This record gives sequence, structure tokens and C-alpha cells, in this order.
Amino acid sequence: MTAICIANNKGGVGKTTTAVNLAAGLARLNYKVLVVDIDGQANATYALTGRVHPAPSIYDVLVGNRKLETILWQTNEENVWLAPGDGRLQNADVELAARPGREWRLARALSGLEYHYIIIDTPPSLGVLTQNALAAANKVVVPISLTEFSLIGIDKLDAVIDDLRDQLDLDDLEIAGVVATFYEDTTTARETWGILEKKYENRLLETRIPKNLDLEKAHREHESVLSFAPNSSSGLAYMELAREVKSRVPAHSRPYNRRSGQAY
Ligand SMILES: Nc1ncnc2c1ncn2[C@@H]1O[C@H](COP(=O)(O)OP(=O)(O)O)[C@@H](O)[C@H]1O
Ligand SMILES: [Mg+2]
Repeated sequence: MTAICIANNKGGVGKTTTAVNLAAGLARLNYKVLVVDIDGQANATYALTGRVHPAPSIYDVLVGNRKLETILWQTNEENVWLAPGDGRLQNADVELAARPGREWRLARALSGLEYHYIIIDTPPSLGVLTQNALAAANKVVVPISLTEFSLIGIDKLDAVIDDLRDQLDLDDLEIAGVVATFYEDTTTARETWGILEKKYENRLLETRIPKNLDLEKAHREHESVLSFAPNSSSGLAYMELAREVKSRVPAHSRPYNRRSGQAY
């Protein structure tokens, strides 16, 4: 079991789209995948099932004491399972703030699960929920859109990851890959790509996700773009991304066990 957190404190950069379609791609490579939606907008939940703000959800696991196994659903994608989110997650940062061990609640809830990959979709913030996702993850994948102003604020994410690695003793937690999204052949996109190459070097993934409307249409049909339009530019790119992520972040067949998360 390998857990990957999809994070970027900016909204609208393709986190949810990447979580959903990376999960679908890994499933097509014959892995059993769990998507965990901890964003109060619950877009991944909608994109994978068509359901809007269902309850119970991961909120009841993180803030209440519900067992994760009791909220899991099968999605419209074969081999992709979902821990759904709902709007109450928008209050969770505040509700969890004063709890001891607050960063560990997700890692603890995932303990013992048997999937090859867990993909965690996060809100556009660096609050307690995102910290839970990072603490539960082995690696981080950061989508960055190749649009104007997309790099402002990105260093904050690096700082939070470094901080959690030290504070929570998570030796292997690091950015495994930065994936460029909304790629088009424009000057801004080329310039931004150039900056990313310098900044992230070999952590910048080769796969670029093109700007492509099929992604949004697929969300509306509640399926991945790999089901909706497999031969579209974005369908091919997300399949390629799954292969690239698989080779950089291998799956393990052992049940989930985040070392420090076991203390609870
Ligand atoms: N490569 C892309 N090309 C075109 N539209 C995209 C692309 N990636 C995402 N979108 C659309 O942009 C919006 C924001 O993407 P989303 O994945 O929800 O971002 P985030 O989760 O970071 O807020 C959504 O409507 C989504 O369908
Ligand atoms: Mg999102």
C-alpha cells in the first residue's frame, strides 16, 4: 500500500481532476485504488459517483469516530473505491484544531486497509485537513497549472511538507512529482514550464496534462476521462501519468501502516 497526497494550496489547478484520473489510470494498470476526498467541495466524490455531499462521509471518520470501512463506496470506475467527502469538511479544520494528535486522524483511520494505492484529494489550503493528508501519505504529487500567476505561493507547500516531515518524523514524505496541467502551446505555458524545470529538476514529471474540455465533460458524466474519452489528449496524458507515477512511486501489497499513525 502506497499513499499519495495530491496537494497544492491554490484552487483550480487540477488537483481533483488529477486525483480522479490518476486513480482511474492506476486501476487500469491492474491496481486496486482508494480515492479519499477530504475537500469540503467534494468534487472528487461527485466526479466519481454523481452524488452530492453524501453522509456519512470521511467527515464522520475524521471528526467523529466512525470506522472508515463503513463509509466506502464502489465508484463508476472498476477497481476504484471512494471514501467520499461532504460540505461539513469545511468546518473540520476548526473542529479538529484543539484535538491532540489532530494530524494523525486520517493515517489512523486508514490503518490496515488493503489497496495498492490510496490517492488523497485535498482542499486548496494548508490547514489541518491537508496536514492529515500529508501525514497519511508516503509521497506528494503537486499539480501546477501552466497559467499566469500559478507559481505564487507554491513555496508555502514545500515549507509545510518540510515542517511535517521533521515534526512528525516522516522520513519518506516528499514531493515525488510535480505535474504540469492546463498545458497549451502559449508563451506563458512555455515560460512557466521552463521555471518548473529549473525549480524541480528531476521531480518535474515528463507527462504534461493538456488543457482539454473532455476533462470537465467526464466529471459531469461521473466518470474518468479514461472511460469517457480514452483517446482524447487528456485521456492519453492521464494514462501516461499513471505509468509515470507507478514507476516513481511503486505500489506495495502490504496493508497500510503509517509508522507513527500506529501509535493511536
Ligand atoms: N487540463 C485541464 N484542461 C481543462 N480543464 C481542466 C483541466 N484540469 C482541470 N480542468 C477543469 O478546471 C476546473 C478546476 O479543476 P480541479 O481539478 O477541480 O482543480 P482543483 O481541484 O485544484 O481545484 C474543473 O472544472 C476541471 O474540470
Ligand atoms: Mg479540488
